[in-house]
Order: sequence, then C-alpha cells, then structure tokens
Amino acid sequence: MENQIDTQMVRRKGRRLVLFPIPFQGHINPMLQLADILHSKGFSITIVHTSFNSPNPSNYPNFTFHSVTDGLSESEASMADIVALVKLLNTRCVAPFRDCLIKLLADVSEEPISCLISDALFYFSQAVADSLKLPRIVLRTGGVSSFVVFAAFPLLMEKGYLPIQESQLEEPVADFAPLKVKDLPVINTEDPEVFYELVAGLVNETKASSGLIWNSFDDLEQPALATIRRHFSIPFFPIGPFHKYFLPSSSSSLLTPDESSISWLNKQAPRSVIYASFGSLAALSEAEFLEIAWGLANCKQPFLWVVRPGLVRGSEWLESLPSEFLETLNGRGHIIKWAPQQEVLAHPAVGAFWTHNGWNSTVESICEGVPMICMPCFSDQTVNAKYVTDVWKVGLQLESGLKREEIERTIRRLMGEEEGREIRERISELKEKANLCLQQGGTSCQSLDTLVGHISKLES
Ligand code: UDX
Repeated sequence: MENQIDTQMVRRKGRRLVLFPIPFQGHINPMLQLADILHSKGFSITIVHTSFNSPNPSNYPNFTFHSVTDGLSESEASMADIVALVKLLNTRCVAPFRDCLIKLLADVSEEPISCLISDALFYFSQAVADSLKLPRIVLRTGGVSSFVVFAAFPLLMEKGYLPIQESQLEEPVADFAPLKVKDLPVINTEDPEVFYELVAGLVNETKASSGLIWNSFDDLEQPALATIRRHFSIPFFPIGPFHKYFLPSSSSSLLTPDESSISWLNKQAPRSVIYASFGSLAALSEAEFLEIAWGLANCKQPFLWVVRPGLVRGSEWLESLPSEFLETLNGRGHIIKWAPQQEVLAHPAVGAFWTHNGWNSTVESICEGVPMICMPCFSDQTVNAKYVTDVWKVGLQLESGLKREEIERTIRRLMGEEEGREIRERISELKEKANLCLQQGGTSCQSLDTLVGHISKLES
C-alpha cells in the first residue's frame, strides 16, 4: 500500500475533520497516522492537542494544529499514576476544549467541519460534541479483543472476577477463553473505583458516538469484532494496520529516536538480534531491571535494548547496571533511550521482539513477522499478550516470572528450537494477511471507503 496514495493528487473534499488525541505516545501515534490516512482521502485535518506532550507540528505541514491548555501542574502531569492522569485530563480539558471547538466551528475562513474524531479515553468529548451538535467518531487505539473485555466489566464484577483476588489468578474466566483471571485488563492504582469509572466512561461514551475506528484488521480479530457488533449499534471501521499505509510514516515521536540502532543492526547477522522495548509508560523495579539485563547477557544472542529514561523506578537511566554487566557484553548489546521502532522491527537482523504488548507494538511486530516474547505490564497489554501466545500463537510468555534463567530459556525456545520455527511460520502468515487487507479490495481498504462514505453522510 506504501505511497499508493499521492496526497497531492487527491481531490480535496472541502471538508475538515477535527482530531483530538489523548497525550500519550501509544495514542498520539495511531491518531496522527489516522490523520494522514484521512488526509489522503481528501479531508483537511485539524489536530487539537493538549499542551502536555504536544506533537511537533513541523512534521505535519499539511495539518493545522491548535493547543488547548490542560492546566496540569508539573506534578500532575506525571505518568506514575496513569489512571489519575486520564481522569484529570477528562476534567481539566472540558472548558478549554469546548471553547476551542466553538472557535473552530465559527471560523468561516476554513472548510466546514464534518465531525470530531477523538480518542476513546477522552470520553468527556462526547458530551462536548453533543452540546455543539457535532458528530463524534471514536478512535480506539487498542485492540478489539481487549475492548470486548472492558465492555464486559459490569458482568465480570457481577460474576466475582473483578476486583481480582490473588487466590483466583489462575482460574479461567468463563466465556472469555483463553483468558485467566490474571489476564484481565486492570491497572494498579490508588483507588480502583476510579479505574472502573474510567472504563465505564470509555465504553459508554463510545456507545453514544457516531462510529468506532480500530487500528486492527478483520483477519486478526474477526471473532472479537463479531462479539462487539452484537452489543454496539454504532458502525465499526477496522481499517488497520495504520502505520503500513505510508512508508515511512511521519514521526510523531515525543522522544528522539536513536539512529545508531540501525547502524548497529547493520552489523549483525540476519534474524539474530533480540529487540527489547517496553513502550512509553511501563515502569520496572530495579530488581526486575537487573533480571532483564542478566537474562539478556546470559542468552548469548545480540540484543538491542530500549531503556527509556524513567523506565526504572527511582533511576535516571542505567546507573543500577553493574560494571560487570557492561564488561560481559563486549559489543554484543546496544542500549539506547528510544528507538525508531518500526524501522528496527523491519530490519532483517531482528529475530525476536521482547515486548510489553502495548497494542501498537503488538501490531507493528505482526506486520514485520517478528515473533514476540511477551511481558505485559498492565491494562490491555495482558489481553494482547494472551492472544499473541494462545490464540495467534506467534510468541511466548515468560511462564514463571521475570527471572534470568526463565528469560534465557524462553529466548532459546523462540530463537532456536522447532517451536520457534513454527512460531515464525505462523507470524509470517499473519504478516501476509496484514499486507493483503490493505490492498485494493482488502477488508481494511474496503472499511476505509465505508468510513469515508459514513463521514460524508454525517455532513448532510
Ligand atoms: C500504551 C499502553 O501501555 C498500551 O497498553 C496501549 O495499547 C496503548 O498505549 P505504550 O506503552 O505507549 O502503550 O505502547 P505501544 O502501544 O506499543 O506504543 C508505543 C509506540 O511507541 C509504538 O508505536 C512504538 O513504535 C513507539 N516506540 C516505542 C518507539 O518509536 N520507540 C521506542 O523505543 C519504543
């Protein structure tokens, strides 16, 4: 699909879309990729963003950007309690976002606005859109399979699976095979009630919207799509994988990707490298960090490891790594703060992705046919990881916790043995399906045309 759509040649529709991402890396990326896709279909694009974690407009010369003040203090704008932060954003942004939309709607020098497209986590924006009689379409940046579970939270509470009890962790969740209680998508937070409120807001305000866009594709999540269609009466548009529409996609990275990753990978043997990265939010204890370090060192494979500043609680960056660790490596490992991840995963030297299974990372890995080692940390990641290992069977989960011996064993199973070969075959097949769905006549391509038609109907 790459570069099939020459954005300059597209007939402009004379219509504008307002897109509003929630300010986290794993949400900004897909929203801006979606903006590129819809721009290629003739829509003008306005991005409304918070002042916190604002994207860089210079990477998107075709779009108009408007900042809304979120009013977050330095201590409030902390990723340490993501649930509290999402709640705060949904409160603080109401008035500034409403004012911004009113101005945009009144601006006759720009094209008329067809609809708002906002992140499912910005659930407050449904009421704002309703009050201005502006249709809202939701972008859910996570997978469909995890959304099915979020939508079933009231039922899971009724049946006693939630809140999770330590004693039930290994119990299967009835009607949600292959999930066990430990795979349910929760976040450890000070007040669990706030998390449940947030999930209810996410699900209910999505139900009240004019449509739902997924960064997923039919062949990957068909059963989940069928389930959710039975419970939601709004139209669905699974049009992913977003990042494969245009290559290379414009960068919406909040941190600068370290390009030395690629020159280092260029020196490694094909399919030999383990790429380890745990996304933009996960945090580890020092003990966990050291187990990962020694697991990587002991496995004897080359590795490229993203240690994001802030990844290790209480550390700036690598201070807790002992000097013997760095000496043992002897050039076999390359540690960076942030990677050009899509380029890394597409590199022929990469043989496995040790991931936290954020949805973007999971989809990006599938699209490059790179088998995964799964280490989910919270929320949808646990469901994504279970699907990777037990449904699509394209990865392995660390079975007995984060211990260096277990890490070594799992890497060996994935990189070397018959089991690893079968996993590679299966993920190559999924990669092929991801390619096909974006071709002319493919499911995502068709769904995108339906979405464009749907937006046009909202206009009338
Ligand atoms: C968050 C949640 O943790 C996740 O559960 C949810 O599905 C999306 O939001 P995050 O931790 O940001 O996700 O992970 P992920 O969804 O994988 O998104 C990270 C993005 O950053 C990916 O697009 C990835 O390519 C990019 N990235 C990551 C880099 O560009 N460089 C890196 O070094 C690491």
